[in-house]
Amino acid sequence: MTTDQRLALEFCGMRFATPLVLLSGCVGFGEEYTRVEGFANAEAGAVCLKGTTLAPRLGNPAHRVYETPGGMLNAIGLQNPGARAVVDTILPTLDFAETRFIANVSGSTVEEYEEVTRIFDDSPIDAIEINISCPNVKEGGVTFGNDPDMSARVVAACRRATKKPLITKLSPNQTDIAANARRCIEAGTDGFAVINTLMGMAIDIEQRRPVLGNNQGGLSGPAIKPVAVFRTFQVAQVARPHGIPIIGQGGVTSAADAIEFLLAGATAVGVGTGLFYDPLLLASINAGILDYLDRHGFAQVSDLTGALRLNGA
Ligand SMILES: Cc1cc2nc3c(=O)[nH]c(=O)nc-3n(C[C@H](O)[C@H](O)[C@H](O)COP(=O)(O)O)c2cc1C
Repeated sequence: MTTDQRLALEFCGMRFATPLVLLSGCVGFGEEYTRVEGFANAEAGAVCLKGTTLAPRLGNPAHRVYETPGGMLNAIGLQNPGARAVVDTILPTLDFAETRFIANVSGSTVEEYEEVTRIFDDSPIDAIEINISCPNVKEGGVTFGNDPDMSARVVAACRRATKKPLITKLSPNQTDIAANARRCIEAGTDGFAVINTLMGMAIDIEQRRPVLGNNQGGLSGPAIKPVAVFRTFQVAQVARPHGIPIIGQGGVTSAADAIEFLLAGATAVGVGTGLFYDPLLLASINAGILDYLDRHGFAQVSDLTGALRLNGA
C-alpha cells in the first residue's frame, strides 16, 4: 500500500511515509501491532519500540493500568527482555520496508543508557529515542529527566555511543522544559519527543490503597492533551531555530488533535493511548489531515509545522 505523498516528510534525516508515529509502550515491539487485522504499516511514519534496558526486566506488580476520566494511568515498569535479546531476536522479525523503527532506551545509570545505545548502534534500527522521562522506575527515568544537568549527561553519553539519529523524550513533570531542551541540544540530541506521561495516582478508597501496584503511575490519553500541546509549543521555540524536529504527543485520538500538535511546532505526531480505543485510528487521522490540507490550501503536511497564528501577534 502507498500513502499520499503530501503526508511524507523528513525527520532527523529519515523519510517518514506519514507524520504519525506509534508510541513506545503502546505497540509492544512492533510485532504485536502489525497482527491487528486491517492495519497497514505504511500508515505509520515510524514505530517506537517498548522501552529497553540492559538486563531483562519483569516490570511492576499488578495492577499496571487503570482507566481514568479521559485517559489512563500506567505503571508497567519497563518490562522488556533486555537490549541484546531485542537486537538478536526481535529486530530480525520486523519489516523495515514501509516504516521506520525507533528503539526506546532506558537505564538506571548514565553508563547503562550509553551501553544500551551502543548495542542498538550496532543493529538495523533507524533511530534511538532516549527515555529520560519514565515515571515508573525507581532509578533513572524521570529522576534524570527532571534534572537538566542529568538530562544533558545522559544525552552526551548516548551521543558518544551512536551516530544514528538521537531523539530525546522530555518529561512534562518539570518546571522549565525549554531550558532542559536547550541543554539537550547542546549535548547533541537530533530531535525531541514531547511529552511523556504526567505523574499521577488513583486510590481505592475501600482498601485505602493506591490502585496501581507501583502506587504511582503515568497519566496518558485525551486528559493530558492541552498540557502536551503547550509543552510542544514551548520546546518548539528553542528547537526549531536549530532545525531540530519534535514528535508531539499526548492524547491524540483524531486528525484535529494531530493538527493542533503540528501547528504548535511538531513535525510528527505520536499516537499511543488512542490505539486502545481504536487500533485502526491511524488511517482516519491520515485521511483527516489530507482533508485539512485541501481545505486550507497547504501543499504538504510539513507546511503545517509551526503555522500557528498567535493572538496579539
Ligand atoms: C501502557 C503504556 C506504556 C508506556 N511505555 C513507555 C515506554 O516504555 N517508554 C516510553 O518512552 N514511553 C512509554 N509510554 C508513554 C507513551 O509512549 C506516550 O509518550 C504517552 O503515553 C503520551 O501519549 P498518549 O497520550 O498518546 O498515550 C507508555 C504509555 C503507556 C500508556
